[in-house]
Amino acid sequence: MLIYLIGFMGSGKSTIGQKLSRKLGFTFVDLDSEIESRTGMAVQELFDRHGEEFFREQEHRALNAVAGLKDAVVATGGGTPCYFDHMTLMNDTGMTVYIRMPAAALARRLADARTRRPVLAGIPGDRLEEEIVKLLSVREPFYRRAGITVDGINADVDKLATMILGKNG
Ligand code: S3P
Repeated sequence: MLIYLIGFMGSGKSTIGQKLSRKLGFTFVDLDSEIESRTGMAVQELFDRHGEEFFREQEHRALNAVAGLKDAVVATGGGTPCYFDHMTLMNDTGMTVYIRMPAAALARRLADARTRRPVLAGIPGDRLEEEIVKLLSVREPFYRRAGITVDGINADVDKLATMILGKNG
């Protein structure tokens, strides 16, 4: 079984993914780390030196490579579902789980960490929430195609594992 965690930056995909993979005895894969090891460059560097389009191509390759894995939990990047018809690819090859979180909570969680996110890097703190609202409205239609949606604020990994196993069986 292959599980894809999707959702906005800062929604907790990696933390939940690590816990879920331990619980299920699956391998944990972080798609950004996969891109970094395949290209030998940090995400930030890929954006800075080669631009977003190049990053999205590398992301596409990395996703295609992990799509063949078995018994793995993949934490994708916040933009992954929105390019190259990736929702179809992920829904065809595994179970998609949307970790949902309101813009206000995302803004609080991303306030300090946004410098490490090239997509948000230039946005001043007082405009962060409004920019997240805008970007979320573009991205949510993709995220909503997930097979399962969970509340990222009170995420219960045990319940999520049961839900996934139930859907799969
Ligand atoms: C991005 C999210 C990042 C990373 C890249 C682009 C996005 O991943 O893939 O900076 O477009 O939302 P996280 O969601 O893990 O921060």
